[in-house]
Amino acid sequence: MTTSPIRICFVCLGNICRSPTAEGVMRALVERSGRGARIHVDSAGTAGYHEGDPSDGRSIAHAERRGYAMRHVARQFTRADFARFDYVVAMDASNWKNLARLAPDAEARAKVTMLRAYDVPAPVRHGRPADAFDDVPDPYYGGADGFEHVLDICEKSCASLLAHLVAEHGLA
Ligand code: 4NP
Repeated sequence: MTTSPIRICFVCLGNICRSPTAEGVMRALVERSGRGARIHVDSAGTAGYHEGDPSDGRSIAHAERRGYAMRHVARQFTRADFARFDYVVAMDASNWKNLARLAPDAEARAKVTMLRAYDVPAPVRHGRPADAFDDVPDPYYGGADGFEHVLDICEKSCASLLAHLVAEHGLA
C-alpha cells in the first residue's frame, strides 16, 4: 500500500532564521522516529528578501551545535504552495495573518496554524486565532540567546507537533 506523505511547511518572515530552524529540528525528530517517508518537512518565508540565500550563519551555528542539519535555501511562500502542503505552520502572528490573507480559499486558510499552538495542551488549539498563542520571537536583530530560545521552542513544539500528527493520522 502506498500512502501519500503528510507535507508540512514552516513559515517565518525571511526564511533564514526561525522556519529553517523548525524545519531542521522537525526533520531530525521525524527521521529519528523512523517516519521520514511519511512526513515531509520544508520551510519558506512570507517575504522574498532572502530568496536563494542559505540560512543565517548564526542560526546554522546554533542549530549545528545541537546536531541539526541546516541545508535549506530560502524561498518565498506562494499562493500555489497551499496546494502542496497539508500544514502551513507560522512562527508568529504576523506570519499567520499574511498567510491567511494569501490563502485562496477557506480550505487553504484552514491549513494555517501556529508553531506554538503545539506548545499548549491539545484541547485549546482548535479554532483559536493566532493571537491566542505566543510568537516564536524573531532573533535576527538580537544576540545569541535569541537563537538558543528559538531552538528551545522548536524542540518542544515540534515534538508535540509530531505526537499530534501520529495521533491524528494514525501513524504506526
Ligand atoms: P526570520 O528572521 O523571519 O526568522 O528568517 C528574519 C530574517 C531576515 C529579516 C527579518 C527577519 N530581514 O528583515 O531581512
